[in-house]
Amino acid sequence: MNLYEAIFVRKTVRRYKMEPLDQTLLDNIMNFAESTLKLFEGINVEYRLMDQTDIYKYFNGTLTHRAPHYLAIYSENISGYQMNAGYLMQQISLYMTAKGIGSCYLGMLKPKKMKQDGSKLEYIITLAFGKAENEVYRSSDKAKRLPMDDIAIFKSEVNRNIKTMIQAARLSPSSMNSQPWRLVVYDNRIHIFCKKNIFLTGVLNEVKLIDIGICLAHLLVTAEELWVDVKVIHLDNISSIAFKKNDYVISIKVC
Ligand SMILES: Cc1cc2nc3c(=O)[nH]c(=O)nc-3n(C[C@H](O)[C@H](O)[C@H](O)COP(=O)(O)O)c2cc1C
Repeated sequence: MNLYEAIFVRKTVRRYKMEPLDQTLLDNIMNFAESTLKLFEGINVEYRLMDQTDIYKYFNGTLTHRAPHYLAIYSENISGYQMNAGYLMQQISLYMTAKGIGSCYLGMLKPKKMKQDGSKLEYIITLAFGKAENEVYRSSDKAKRLPMDDIAIFKSEVNRNIKTMIQAARLSPSSMNSQPWRLVVYDNRIHIFCKKNIFLTGVLNEVKLIDIGICLAHLLVTAEELWVDVKVIHLDNISSIAFKKNDYVISIKVC
C-alpha cells in the first residue's frame, strides 16, 4: 500500500495494543519523517519520538488515548508553519497506515514550560501511534464527511485528475472533524479557503491551519500518484478580497 492508497482506507485509531513496535519499524518511520519534503522549504522543524512517561513529563492536559508511542512535531514560528506541520504529519500518518500502524492526532496536549528548554521551536501537534486493538482500516464510504457540494465549487469543467485530488481532499481528517476547508476550482487552479468560525478563538482557530495543511497533504500526495505537476502559490489578488464566510489561504496550480 502506498500513501495515496492509504488516504482511502485510513481512519483515526483510538485504542492500541501497548506492546512497543519493532525498532526497525520505528527507525523507518523516523527516516520517513526526516526525509519528507516540506510544504515550505526553509521552515525548521524537529520531531520527537516519545513514550507515555515522556508525555506526562513534557505535557499538561488530558492524555485521552494511551498508546505505546507518540510523535510530536516542533517548528520554527514563521509564516505558514502550522500548515507545514499539518502537511508533514499527515504524510507520516499515511505512511503508518500503509504499514498497518494506527494513529491519532492529540489536539489537547499543552507543553509544560520547562526551565532549561532553550529550544526556539514551538510545539505544534502530536500523533499517538501503535498497533491497533481493533481494525486499522475503514472503507472511504464509511468516513463521516460533508458532501462534496458543501466543500467544493467547480467554476468550470475540470479533468479527472483534479476531481480525484478533490475527492482525496474531502477525506482529510480534521480537529473535531470540523472540515474547515472550502475549495474553489477554476480551470487548472484549486483555491483553498478556510471556513470562518466566530466561536473559535486562539488555539482552536490556529488548529484550523494544521487541518488545512493536512488537506494539502491529501491533495499533493494524490497529484504525485497521478503524475500531475503542481505548484503551491499564494495569490495576492484573492487574499486582498474580503469574504464573508471564508478566509483565503493558498492555491494549487496544476501545471
Ligand atoms: C489537528 C487534529 C487534532 C485532533 N485531536 C484529536 C484529539 O485530541 N482526540 C481525538 O480523539 N481525536 C482527535 N483528532 C481526530 C479527529 O477527531 C478525526 O480525524 C475526525 O473525527 C475524523 O475521523 P477519522 O480520522 O476517523 O476520519 C484530531 C484530528 C486532527 C486533524
